[in-house]
Amino acid sequence: MSTHQTQVVIIGGGPSGLLLSQLLHRTGISSIVLEKHTREHVLGRIRAGVLEHGFVNLMREAGCGARMDREGEIHEGFHIAHQGQLDRVDLAKHTGGDTVMVYGQTEVTRDLYEARDAMGGTVIHEAQNVQPHALRDVHPFVTWEQNGEAQRAECDFIVGADGFHGVSRKSIPSDVLKEYEKVYPFGWLGVLSETPPVAEELIYARHERGFALCSLRSRVLSRYYIQVPLTDRVEDWSDAAFWQELKRRLPEEVAAGLQTGPSIEKSIAPLRSFVAEPMRYGNLFLAGDAAHIVPPTGAKGLNLAASDIHYLYHGFLDHYLKGDSAGLDSYSEQALARVWKAERFSWWMTNLLHRAPEGSETDLRLQRADLDYLFSSDAAQASLVENYVGLPY
Ligand code: APR
Ligand code: PHB
Repeated sequence: MSTHQTQVVIIGGGPSGLLLSQLLHRTGISSIVLEKHTREHVLGRIRAGVLEHGFVNLMREAGCGARMDREGEIHEGFHIAHQGQLDRVDLAKHTGGDTVMVYGQTEVTRDLYEARDAMGGTVIHEAQNVQPHALRDVHPFVTWEQNGEAQRAECDFIVGADGFHGVSRKSIPSDVLKEYEKVYPFGWLGVLSETPPVAEELIYARHERGFALCSLRSRVLSRYYIQVPLTDRVEDWSDAAFWQELKRRLPEEVAAGLQTGPSIEKSIAPLRSFVAEPMRYGNLFLAGDAAHIVPPTGAKGLNLAASDIHYLYHGFLDHYLKGDSAGLDSYSEQALARVWKAERFSWWMTNLLHRAPEGSETDLRLQRADLDYLFSSDAAQASLVENYVGLPY
């Protein structure tokens, strides 16, 4: 058995784990990141692409903002299509200038890996059977296997940044952990295509046939989604059928301008709201998807991971540099307060724009009234906007 020593063991080499290890390293706090899969596998995942300004600032603070600032697109607004019309939501107007950045999560993760390489950070891939131990002890440790060889890392703290299916949350005793969950009766079918986006800004569409979203990664790469029943499989959807259904859910003038092409990625994702409480157990801290999931409608998943990392990073800084543990002690409470607000927003925006399969005529009228109210009230738009650009940390 090989034994390693470090201050923080981070389980999971997704954006949460990588960002934290990068921030810690820059202030002299050591960490080891343990990732179950290969780097190629992690970078093969296509996920959302809208970054809050808080996240953008954190990437810059981590020294990883150069390519994002060069290639990312600042968006000052987005559109909501409903009842054949297209209404614009002006972000800057309602926030005094805040905007979002459109830059794919895959690119964020690639930049973080490159930054870890450049600093000589320890990121161990294909770590099998990762297991945290002695969580309530002053000397917790983590074991795993690497090429069949047993490994052990001794540390002060363990961070569970291993996503929804990771081992960290599961290692908190069930009489301590409380899980809240809501599963929506539909999913999103997403297509990535090497075509120019149909519009410069995102379009969220509410339609009798179901929700649709026109998003983008760059001027030559588009990302589109349509709401589908949970029973649908990717194989059921040819590219032609996808484009046809997408067009039916968009206002005519938008559909007319849609450039279609072969899909380079196609997948179905279920929609879920999920929160695990508390986010700390002894010397284990949960962050990102390990602790919470939002439906993607508000583009909050990655951004919520970033605010967890912000609180945790500052907690570690105060602990190691000032001997003050107040930040770590209040981490769970502080992170969860923001998590629940983002959960509420994502749930609201999902309900506003999706067609519930069992929805009644009354539900439809209430949904329409919600949209009518939104576009007749500056206060309602300001509320949408302050959540969309990101609540303060
Ligand atoms: N041991 C080690 N690594 C693991 C384990 C395990 N037992 N289980 C999972 N992992 C790894 C996964 O392979 C993945 O690379 O942990 C990583 C978790 O990454 P993400 O799922 O991307 O979660 P997170 O880093 O919190 O990112 C936040 O924002 O847009 C959303 O859901 C989206 O992934 C995104 C998230
Ligand atoms: C995306 O581009 O993948 C995307 C954008 C906005 C969302 C969800 C996903 O709300």
